[in-house]
Amino acid sequence: MVTLPAAARLRGRNVLSVTDLGADELASLLALAQNLKARGREQMTLLRGKTLVMLFEKPSLRTRVSFETGMTQLGGHAIAATGTDFGIGTRETPEDAARVLSRYGDAIVYRTHAHEPLVRFAGAATVPTINALSEAAHPCQAFADLLTIRDRFGTLQGLRLAFVGDARNNVAISLAEAAALCGMSISFAAPPTHRPPDAFLARLVKLGAPHGVQARAFTSPVRAVRDVDVVYTDVWTSMGDEQFVERNIAALRPYQIDAALMGAAAKHALFMHCLPAHRGEEVTAEVIDGPQSVVFDQAENRLHAQKALLLALLTDLRGLTE
Ligand code: CP
Ligand code: NVA
Repeated sequence: MVTLPAAARLRGRNVLSVTDLGADELASLLALAQNLKARGREQMTLLRGKTLVMLFEKPSLRTRVSFETGMTQLGGHAIAATGTDFGIGTRETPEDAARVLSRYGDAIVYRTHAHEPLVRFAGAATVPTINALSEAAHPCQAFADLLTIRDRFGTLQGLRLAFVGDARNNVAISLAEAAALCGMSISFAAPPTHRPPDAFLARLVKLGAPHGVQARAFTSPVRAVRDVDVVYTDVWTSMGDEQFVERNIAALRPYQIDAALMGAAAKHALFMHCLPAHRGEEVTAEVIDGPQSVVFDQAENRLHAQKALLLALLTDLRGLTE
């Protein structure tokens, strides 16, 4: 029987954070991404004549190249503007830029410093806006990460994930939201300065309530990773926060992922990192280059997950089976 995939409901919508999707939409998006992954580099024409406009206020390797590659593989075209090419908030308002770019592109990918201009931009755009990373969220990374975990374990529901390090950053927030929606329990390991607020933990429990998800924060990294299926970390200082490098190194040094800490997780545990990584800071070379690491699968899955997202936002998925 042909059923309407939940991802079909995403058509024309904005994706600024993971929770812009419902749990069924996220699951459906991941299934579509898996399907596209199985097709490899097959050249498709589903986005023929469509243009993706990409704006990057901060550096990007994976996000920019995977979106552009995805558009090429789907038969469309992508154009990127970076750094001083544009000036949202300086040369013109987010609203004016959004109205202009909506006259050219079929969707807009935007990497910003603050989250608020992105919200204003998306509010004025008349085509879908995708968050390519802001200070508050990195949803595209989370979609790829869940695809990676699902690929390895065959399921997401009931798994346990630990995020160690700067547990207030964009990657941690989006990953935790996505994991909770998919039925994964989350533990954070961070010093008080980098601990997620209690209100956020409560929100995760609520997001994962249908699955009985737990969300807890520890100061001890060993306690947080004990017997978990996935150990995740990110850089200690995110782009734009460079003035806090020394403070962050001092606070987060006890949270480095090394072989001993991985030993406290389940034997089959994966090591994950969104990249770029700093060997010798948040993770040792032994771990990130070792057999438990799936960081390059994560990077590859950016492509597949974003192709699925572009199809869901820009095409009619009705008629596809789940
Ligand atoms: N992980 C990630 O978003 O990488 P880039 O910053 O290189 O896009
Ligand atoms: N938290 C990091 C992620 C980079 C992909 C940053 O914002 O710089």
